[in-house]
Amino acid sequence: MPFAHITGWGMYVPEPVLTNNDLAKMVDTNDQWIRERTGIRERHIARETEFPSTLGVEAALKALAVANLAPTELDLIICTSSSPEYIFPATACLIQDQIGATKAGAFDIQAACTGFIFSVNMAAQAIRSGSIKNALVVGTEVLSRIINWTDRNTCILFGDGAGAFVLQASDKPGGVISAVMHSDGSGADALSLPGGGTRCPATEITVREGKHFVHMDGKEVFRFATRVMGHAVTEALESANMKLEDVACIVPHQANYRIIETAARYLKLPMDKFMVNVDRYGNTSTASIPIATVEALQNKRIRPGDKVVFVGFGGGLTWGAMTVEWTGPLPTPPTQKKKHIYPLQYRIFAKVRSLLLRILRRIEGLLSRKEL
Ligand SMILES: CC(C)(COP(=O)(O)OP(=O)(O)OC[C@H]1O[C@@H](n2cnc3c(N)ncnc32)[C@H](O)[C@@H]1OP(=O)(O)O)[C@@H](O)C(=O)NCCC(=O)NCCS
Repeated sequence: MPFAHITGWGMYVPEPVLTNNDLAKMVDTNDQWIRERTGIRERHIARETEFPSTLGVEAALKALAVANLAPTELDLIICTSSSPEYIFPATACLIQDQIGATKAGAFDIQAACTGFIFSVNMAAQAIRSGSIKNALVVGTEVLSRIINWTDRNTCILFGDGAGAFVLQASDKPGGVISAVMHSDGSGADALSLPGGGTRCPATEITVREGKHFVHMDGKEVFRFATRVMGHAVTEALESANMKLEDVACIVPHQANYRIIETAARYLKLPMDKFMVNVDRYGNTSTASIPIATVEALQNKRIRPGDKVVFVGFGGGLTWGAMTVEWTGPLPTPPTQKKKHIYPLQYRIFAKVRSLLLRILRRIEGLLSRKEL
C-alpha cells in the first residue's frame, strides 16, 4: 500500500491589512479588548477583484512549485471553504480551470474550519487506496464578504487567505499516519450562515434580517472548542501509536489564542509546542492550518523527519486531528531525468486553454442549434 506524503505547501494572503485600531473606528471595540480575548492584532482582507478561487490558485501554484509537480500531473483537487465562490459549481473546479489541471477530478468538501483536516485525510485515503497518485488540497477563504461589519461579536475574529498542500504517493514510509474526524450536528446553530441555502433562500427579508452573514454563539463555540481540541490530539496520537513526546510541533486551527492555551494546558504541553500566528491573520477558517504550517516550515519549527499534529474544530459542529511524519518533496528516482516545473507558466497555458474551450463550446452550441 503506498504512503501519502505531503510534498508541497503554499500560502497566500491578500495585501490589505485591517488592524484592531481600524476596527475600533467601525464598531464599539478596542485593540486591547480584541488582543486580550482573542490574541488577534490584524487580519488581511481581499480586494474587490479577489475571490476564493483566485486566492486558492496563488497558494496552489506555490505548493506545486515546492513539490516540483506540474498541474497536468494532478489526479485530484479538493477545495474546502466556508466562503465558497458559489453554492455550485465547486470552487475546486474554478481552481482546476485556472491552473490547467487537465486530468484532475475536482470537488469541494464542506466541514467549516475543520475542512482542511477532513480534505487532507480524504486525499490521503485516495492515495493510500492506490486509486490516485497526486492530489492538491486547497483551503481558501474570503470570509470578509460574509461577515456583518457592524457586529462586533464576529467581525473582529475573521480574515481572508488561502493555503494548499500537494500530496503524493510513495512506497517510502511516512506522510499522513492517522486521522480522526468527528461531527455533532446538534450544535449546528452555534456557528452558521443561515441564509442563501434552500432552507432560507435569499429574499429582501433575509437580506434585511442579516441572514446572509455569519451567526455565532461565541461562548458556546469557545466551550466546544476547548472541550474537543486536546482530546482529538490524544485520539489521533493513539491511532498512530505515537506519544506526545514524539511530536515536534502541533499546528492548531487558529481561531483564538486562549483556545490554544486551554488545549496546551489539557495536554500539559508548553505553548512553544504550538504554532501560533492568529495575531497576524485572525481566523482564516479552512486556510488557517496550511497557512500556519507554511510559516512553521519557514521558521524551521517543522523539519523533514519531524512528527507533526494538525488539530481543528468549527461549524457543523465538526472537529478532527491528524498525525503526519513530515518528509517534503519526493526525490527524483535515479532512473529519471530531473525536471524543473514552473507552475506559474501553467497559468498562462490554463487561460488560453479555458478561453479556447469556451469558444469551442459556443461554436458547438451554434452548430447543434442549426442541426435541431
Ligand atoms: C467571541 C469571543 C472572543 C468573545 O469573548 P468572551 O470572553 O466570550 O466575551 P463575552 O461575549 O462574554 O463578552 C464580554 C463583554 O465584552 C463585550 N464585547 C463583546 N464583543 C466585544 C468587542 N468586540 N469589543 C469590546 N467588547 C466586546 C460584551 O458585550 C460583554 O460585555 P458585558 O460584560 O458588558 O455584557 C469568544 O467567545 C470566542 O472567541 N469564542 C469562540 C469564537 C470562535 O473561535 N469562532 C470560530 C470557531 S471556528
